[in-house]
Amino acid sequence: MSVKNIGRSSGLKGTVRVPGDKSISHRAVMLGSIALGTTEITNFLEGADCLATIGCFRKMGVEIEQRQECILVHGKGLRGLRPPAGILDVGNSGTTTRLISGILCGQDFTSVLSGDASLNSRPMGRIITPLRNMGASVTSVNGNGCAPLKIEPGRIHGIHYESPVASAQVKSAVLLAGLYADNTTSVTEPSLSRNHTELMLQNFGAALSAAMHPDGRATAELAPCTELYGRQIHVPGDISSAAYFIAAGLTVPGSELLLKNVGTNFTRAGFLTVCQNMGARVTRLNETVQGGEARADLLVTPGRLHGTVIEGDLIPSLIDEIPVIAVMAACAEGTTVIRDAAELKVKETDRIATVTENLRAMGACVTPTEDGMIIEGRGGLKGAFIESHMDHRIAMAFAVAALSAKGESRINNSQCVDVSYPAFWETLDMLR
Ligand code: S3P
Repeated sequence: MSVKNIGRSSGLKGTVRVPGDKSISHRAVMLGSIALGTTEITNFLEGADCLATIGCFRKMGVEIEQRQECILVHGKGLRGLRPPAGILDVGNSGTTTRLISGILCGQDFTSVLSGDASLNSRPMGRIITPLRNMGASVTSVNGNGCAPLKIEPGRIHGIHYESPVASAQVKSAVLLAGLYADNTTSVTEPSLSRNHTELMLQNFGAALSAAMHPDGRATAELAPCTELYGRQIHVPGDISSAAYFIAAGLTVPGSELLLKNVGTNFTRAGFLTVCQNMGARVTRLNETVQGGEARADLLVTPGRLHGTVIEGDLIPSLIDEIPVIAVMAACAEGTTVIRDAAELKVKETDRIATVTENLRAMGACVTPTEDGMIIEGRGGLKGAFIESHMDHRIAMAFAVAALSAKGESRINNSQCVDVSYPAFWETLDMLR
């Protein structure tokens, strides 16, 4: 157990290179493992979640070299994985569990996936249902719709799946299983979730098309695939990690921050829209696109923030940033309403509950709702004991809150940031 003490800051100054994007890092290892040839990944996120993905594929016979400057994945092709000896340990990682399940459905061996207590209480029915519709044999070992999951060989066929949730993990599980089908697989979701799987599948040679419908629904369609081909992937900085420093740059007076090489894929950049809607200035510089993924440097200019409404199609593009947005809202003037975000309840913690608990501890006025929260921005947070509940995004969001609060805050179980941003505390100390 570790506790981090954080007091008020008189301004964060400097240039930050946030670590590689977590979602893209996972996908690069997964697709690299089932592609032919070598995939070279630079700026890979060496956080606990992505290391769990590496561990799973190593257990299935994939040689993965972790060099100083890159990760080399020596792919085995679509059908070259070997039966793992023992359980595949997915740690705290929902992305590993749900995406790898799609791949495991197409294998001719049995595997069992299991993680930590938080992971093993998160809903897996959302992938079990469509994967079974595809002919897969996936069972929740304890019959509660959660991991451990047992996946036995089955004959996979393509389906069209109408997903009830805008979830990139569900969409990706179905598309990855579709790699093992000899007909087309498609997924329609109520609004577009992050599209990294689609972009990377295209980059690795799969025939995949994506379309938006007039009512906001989105469809991705994958044609039958014989093999994928290894690529060089340069992972952009993670906008979800950048969000903490952007928020700090906006809420701590006297800050001057430049964030280098941050992923700005529009399916992930809703946080930047919210900053703008709250009256903040975050300027994009040096915009480029590599492997289909947009990236830019972000210059943060402090200013007064005001309340806003965050809802509808915007939610999937910022779902992981809601804890830090809630902190910004508490520091802003006026009311912020967050709705259509019931998915918050099934993240590493129930983030409606854990954000409410900690914001209240800091003296903010927040009302939790069924699908979000209402925050009355009154400024003037006070230092408090923050319980992270081992949720990395709660620890980092409340570190930001502590920087502008009066008095010291203590963040409990602060080491949980290792999941997505192992150098977070060091970087924060360097900028203070
Ligand atoms: C992720 C998708 C999102 C996000 C998670 C990472 C991914 O979850 O919250 O942190 O890499 O596909 P859902 O797809 O369940 O919304």
